[in-house]
Amino acid sequence: MTSRADRVIDEVTTAISIADLVRLAEQRMTPEAWDYVAGGAEDEVTLGESLTAFRRYRFVPRVLVDISGVDTRTTLLGREVAVPIGVAPVAAQALAHPDGEIATSRAAAASGAMFCLSTVSSRSIEEVAAAAPSGPRWFQLYVNEDRRFTRRLIERAEAAGYDAIVLTVDLPVLGYREREKRRGWELDVSLGNFVAPDGAAAAGEARQTDGEVDLDRLLDTRHLGLSWDDLAGIRAATSLPLVIKGVLHPDDARLAVEHGAAAVWVSNHGGRQLDRAVQALHAVEAVVAAVDGRAEVYLDGGVRRGSDALIAIALGARAVFTGRPFVFGLGAGGEAGVGRAFDILREELERAMALLGTRTLAEVRREHVAAAAP
Ligand code: FNR
Ligand code: LAC
Repeated sequence: MTSRADRVIDEVTTAISIADLVRLAEQRMTPEAWDYVAGGAEDEVTLGESLTAFRRYRFVPRVLVDISGVDTRTTLLGREVAVPIGVAPVAAQALAHPDGEIATSRAAAASGAMFCLSTVSSRSIEEVAAAAPSGPRWFQLYVNEDRRFTRRLIERAEAAGYDAIVLTVDLPVLGYREREKRRGWELDVSLGNFVAPDGAAAAGEARQTDGEVDLDRLLDTRHLGLSWDDLAGIRAATSLPLVIKGVLHPDDARLAVEHGAAAVWVSNHGGRQLDRAVQALHAVEAVVAAVDGRAEVYLDGGVRRGSDALIAIALGARAVFTGRPFVFGLGAGGEAGVGRAFDILREELERAMALLGTRTLAEVRREHVAAAAP
């Protein structure tokens, strides 16, 4: 007799695309968790476009190139990764599966991929580091009104072996997610980094009991008057490199570099913040030009195929990140589901590179993609 756990693993291993995993996740996640993860801001114009943006490009392959031993490796801020596809920071992953970030970080480490942990994760900085000690990992920072607590988060990440601080700058206030409002769902979730003793004096009034936090209030930083000047304080608190996540304007990319960023992460936050914001894919070329080799450039939003990653790289991104595919893998089948998502994306990328006539990522150039005919 096969157990339920075996059946779940069988089903995720038969998923042949990310879309298959998404369908499984929709059956297995609670409607509330599904809405939180799948949804975007207001009319979801930006979210919808993120899924079609990549279809506006076509490959221009080269033939009879020796592609034996296609190699998807690259480095991110000096650290080697097996694939240029990392896990974007996604809050409260226990909503998708009780193992939460333990499972996602383990699957990322097994695939040699970068894992970025959210400030508002279900499991703590230290628990995730202990679950996947050898995996490359970064910590995503939300600045909190309690500056001491913010500094403590940075110190904890550095002590636990995270290799960079990723400061997210496109969330001065939470975007208006209408799916959740309609369902009357409050984002009161248990957050691993906010439990006592560290959370005890922290997070001001937003903090409730036992690490339960009202995200809407916690993340509303309008009154803090954050600006580029605050980057100096964050950099002074750590020796880790700083990545600025949530840039779309080339002048902001330039400012990020001038304020000491080691990398610029082009993103509209998966269409969850400013609806009708431009696609990262359409902003990335201007950002790469503005940065002019002084920092690494990454991109996220709507990556659902290995070929999507390849298009982004042809347009100048060093790597891509993706959020929902891994969290849907998690919802579909825990760690095995996230592992399946990695296998699918890696195999698709390798196959697309071979068909494009590119053996390494360094060989992928702008001339390998063209605009689709109108
Ligand atoms: C996010 N994202 C996000 N970003 C961040 O910097 N900190 C966070 O805590 C979260 N939380 C979060 C929750 C959920 C449910 C989603 C879907 C996304 C944004 C995330 O890092 C990334 O920018 C987008 O998910 C990219 O879009 P795709 O790959 O989901 O299409
Ligand atoms: C979100 C946050 C928490 O997008 O980043 O829901």
